[in-house]
Amino acid sequence: MARVRLVGVEKVYPNGHVAARGLDLDITDGEFMVLVGPSGCGKSTALRMIAGLETPTAGQVFIGERDVTAVPPQDRDIAMVFQSYALYPHMTVRENLAFGLRMRGAAAPAIAERVRAVAQALGLDAVLERKPSQLSGGQRQRVALGRAMVRDPQVFLFDEPLSNLDAKLRVETRAELARLHRRLQATIVYVTHDQEEALTLGGRVTVMRDGLIEQVGPPMEVYRRPASIFVGGFVGSPAMNFFPSGRLLPYPRSSAAADPGPVTLGVRPHDLAIVPAGTGDADARVDVVEPRGSELLVHLRLEGDSDDAEVRVVASPETDVPVDAVVGLRCDRQRLHWFDTRSGKRITPPASASAPDTRRA
Ligand SMILES: Nc1ncnc2c1ncn2[C@@H]1O[C@H](COP(=O)(O)OP(=O)(O)OP(=O)(O)O)[C@@H](O)[C@H]1O
Ligand SMILES: [Mg+2]
Repeated sequence: MARVRLVGVEKVYPNGHVAARGLDLDITDGEFMVLVGPSGCGKSTALRMIAGLETPTAGQVFIGERDVTAVPPQDRDIAMVFQSYALYPHMTVRENLAFGLRMRGAAAPAIAERVRAVAQALGLDAVLERKPSQLSGGQRQRVALGRAMVRDPQVFLFDEPLSNLDAKLRVETRAELARLHRRLQATIVYVTHDQEEALTLGGRVTVMRDGLIEQVGPPMEVYRRPASIFVGGFVGSPAMNFFPSGRLLPYPRSSAAADPGPVTLGVRPHDLAIVPAGTGDADARVDVVEPRGSELLVHLRLEGDSDDAEVRVVASPETDVPVDAVVGLRCDRQRLHWFDTRSGKRITPPASASAPDTRRA
């Protein structure tokens, strides 16, 4: 297994589109790194540059200590699994798994042993003699994974490998991937646009936007301390609420600290409580209530708000929130996210001037 590094990697496509703007990323040996971001942000481009399927216009790619920037894909010792994997339909699962090794001229007993080990790891023993058409979607997906695994490469690259599966199978295969990683201790770079998949799978998560890296960190750190308005809004479901300065709470300014200028407050729907009108940080009118089984997702509009901005709150299913009722909203002072509105970057309010906690008052 190996470390993977991107150093100042840039990609300008021939049509002039800039898909990577100086990416710096250090993926440690054995790490499960997820690249996540909205469609078109450059995730696949970054992965394809690690694979050698695209050449960076500037910067370097390292696998282990080796500079592979100019090394062709077949000499990089990587295995890539795409969203649209293709199995050989006329071959059995066993033959599909063995194919890559056979093409490399491996000896028959070695191939048989390797196929046996991988089939066992992926729970495919029982279907080895079947053709792909006789498999479920999840089993086919595992065969595609298995074909990458038999080669025992330095690095696995996955580009949205679960997006063809239905929701239930996706969750199951996700858990399988996590177990597999634990067992193999392999270096994995995994691309998804699904923030939930990123949080559940990633040892660390790299959030990308428009060819740039916005934040790199363990899932809970990215969730708890988003580095920007973009990350705060992208990671977490339902999405974070944003308020202009003073709309819900004032920014805790201090005479000692420089004035930050316009600020934006971010509060997650789980960190807002519904309280009696007049007793919270603001009053709001209930707009839509969505039961979600174990909880309610309540959509509200702040009272006296001209811009009609929606606020989302997650509440317990017992909460009494008739549509059109006016209720109070109180936010958890321990879980406020402040951002510089102009740069979008996270800011930390001066400690001495932290806002009084009304819950304890
Ligand atoms: N061969 C190409 N020529 C020109 N532009 C390209 C090419 N390939 C990708 N792009 C553009 O580069 C940007 C990044 O593409 P990329 O495929 O890396 O995005 P992505 O994050 O993987 O998106 P998705 O989640 O939709 O797969 C997009 O705007 C895309 O249109
Ligand atoms: Mg992509």
